[in-house]
Amino acid sequence: MYEPFPSDEQRIASDAAAGDFARYLLDVIAARRRQPADDLLSALMDATVDGERLTDDQIVSTAMVLLMAGHEATVNATTNGIAALAAHPDQWARIRSGEITPRAAIEEILRFDPPLQWFERWVLDDGFAVDGVEIPRGSRVALVLAAANRDPRRWPEPERFDVGRADSGHLAFGGGIHFCLGAPLARLELETTLTELAATEDELVVLPPTVRRTTFQFRGYERLVVRLSASG
Ligand code: HEM
Repeated sequence: MYEPFPSDEQRIASDAAAGDFARYLLDVIAARRRQPADDLLSALMDATVDGERLTDDQIVSTAMVLLMAGHEATVNATTNGIAALAAHPDQWARIRSGEITPRAAIEEILRFDPPLQWFERWVLDDGFAVDGVEIPRGSRVALVLAAANRDPRRWPEPERFDVGRADSGHLAFGGGIHFCLGAPLARLELETTLTELAATEDELVVLPPTVRRTTFQFRGYERLVVRLSASG
């Protein structure tokens, strides 16, 4: 459903899946209303905004956004990072030796191969221009975050994967008022994974067949099998 030009078949399938998912969540909300639990849905049902509770539809859409945004991107960032480190053993060695912390390295992983390639916006005003090119009101504009992350005017040698860049100014989490709400959690998840992996003191080897997802918006792997082989 996030792809730029879905076929009718994909559109119908994603609408049906979203409908099924919403109905499933409404059932869970009804169950929590009968018996609250110590979980996010129950907390959302208790929450108030300006003194008013959220409607069931608002709880459903919030839960959907959190699950989709919170799960897919982190999964793909993890696999993109593991694949990049396996392809650059010198960089993996810098992390394992302690020269570069996992905390610093994840910023380069997010810059180098971001899991979300682009987001769209609509031009709401007249007279909006980029680089002297006027973009008419009502136009849909794609912001290719992944390209910005490799802009040579911003990043020296942008094609080089260098976990020691110590620069978190990438756009993998977007920017402005819609900057990723879950960025601190995503960073924590990625740092924890990398710390655990680095503690094994093993080489990272990606085994064939490695299969990239064919989707454009979500960039990740359909299949990525990793062997941790003792480095002796
Ligand atoms: C590596 C992992 C992640 C990446 C790369 C990522 C990236 C992004 C990007 C680029 C946006 C901006 C979308 C836009 O401009 O329209 C965004 C928004 C958002 N993200 Fe993430 N995200 C990640 C993980 C998470 C997690 C773990 C959560 C929550 C548990 C989350 C929740 C959200 C939400 C709620 C928004 C919408 C914010 C708004 O529109 O105001 N994300 N994310």
